[in-house]
Amino acid sequence: SGEDGKTAAPEALPTLPEGAPLRDLPRLANRADEPGRFEAELTAKPAIVRFAEGIDTPILAYNGEAPGPLIEVTEGDKVAIRFANRLFRWETTIHWHGMPVPADQDGNPMDPVLSGGERLYAFELPEGSAGSYWYHPHPHGRTAEQVYLGLAGAFIVKPRQDPIPAAYGDTPLFFTDLRLAADGLIPANTMADLMNGRVGDHVLVNGQKKPTLTLPAGSRRRFRLFNASNARFLHLTFGEAAMTLIGSDGGLLEAPVTGRRTIDLAPGERAEIVVAFDRPGRLVLRTEDVDHGWMGPGRPDMAAELMTVEVTADKAEPAPALPARLRSIADLGSPAVRRRFEFTETMSMGEGGMKMAFLINGTSFDMNRVDVVTKAGQTELWEVVNRADMDHPFHLHGTQFQVAETERDGRVSKAPYRAWKDTVNVARGETVRLLVRQDLPGPRMYHCHILEHEQLGMMGVAEVQ
Ligand code: C2O
Ligand code: CU
Repeated sequence: SGEDGKTAAPEALPTLPEGAPLRDLPRLANRADEPGRFEAELTAKPAIVRFAEGIDTPILAYNGEAPGPLIEVTEGDKVAIRFANRLFRWETTIHWHGMPVPADQDGNPMDPVLSGGERLYAFELPEGSAGSYWYHPHPHGRTAEQVYLGLAGAFIVKPRQDPIPAAYGDTPLFFTDLRLAADGLIPANTMADLMNGRVGDHVLVNGQKKPTLTLPAGSRRRFRLFNASNARFLHLTFGEAAMTLIGSDGGLLEAPVTGRRTIDLAPGERAEIVVAFDRPGRLVLRTEDVDHGWMGPGRPDMAAELMTVEVTADKAEPAPALPARLRSIADLGSPAVRRRFEFTETMSMGEGGMKMAFLINGTSFDMNRVDVVTKAGQTELWEVVNRADMDHPFHLHGTQFQVAETERDGRVSKAPYRAWKDTVNVARGETVRLLVRQDLPGPRMYHCHILEHEQLGMMGVAEVQ
């Protein structure tokens, strides 16, 4: 794949057949010659991919790859990524989703890179920031299109000492959602897509259609799961194989949570799991169909088969057990301030027909308005109330938060364990209370991570001072 960034000419990628062996994500090469540094270039430009023999699909890609190359660094590293925007006409940014980077390096809509332009994104990742992050564009009013056309990639920050046995491997599964027309083109968003969020016809895993992973019996595997789809809620299951949840958006949990049959991932969310493949046979990683408040007719069946695991009769080397304790997660203390954020939807008939608005506290995004002023280093309680008819995943820039409790029909459930999160689903009718502490000053976005809703203005600005 080309990385020259000098030209916007599309480049051809090989056909991706269904059922092919699961590929490793291509990696972004580190050009730094000193330890503790990561230096690389990323170019956003048009590309051509073949999902089916003989049919070209124009997409947008980072360095010719969709998903974009995997970036892998270690906590404490200094990162410098030179970015070139070679998209025709469109401005873009790179937002480092979930990462504790300074506000002026965060790729928020206030800092666009114009078509043909370049910039350097530079930040230092503090100790303790290990986690499964991702990167994607965040330009004003164009995020949804740029992401569904292919611009998104995984960003893994490794801990200095990883408590998970190396024998489990570390396999990212980066889920994106593709809608493909018969002519090979990716159709634009319809009115129904804007309303419900765009749900495609295929869930791709590392850019592949239903790949196959082959493993010997007795294997234990660590998977990092990334929901990089615009709007599809994933309810992942391996069927009879139980999953052990070991990590959330912002890295490992304090202790493994065993015996999970499903893992729910709202758009934007990530998780880390360990799965034991004990007996030979075939297992399918599926997502189940769950209604999140679809509006209007034509709710698609969201169930899909994502990946096949063929467990062969060969015996894997016995792997060490998962440690009982993975790490400790800071207690954020009691909140000094309490704030309320309310999601609402309004429908009205206007000149051009039905008009929808997706609002937070009654307002639509305005990048020249500050909605909330907060103090760096102060723990706050953010109460996110969903008074709308559909679920809206809440995402905050600049920091990781902790879910304290969830309230539904007057019943409060405390979070069962501590976890670092930057995206959490707030189901219709639900209230989720978060403990939030920002450490770095500057403007920080918070929004619904159904990207069509973000694009329609379900977003606000918190100014950290
Ligand atoms: Cu992943 Cu503001 O977004
Ligand atoms: Cu939403």
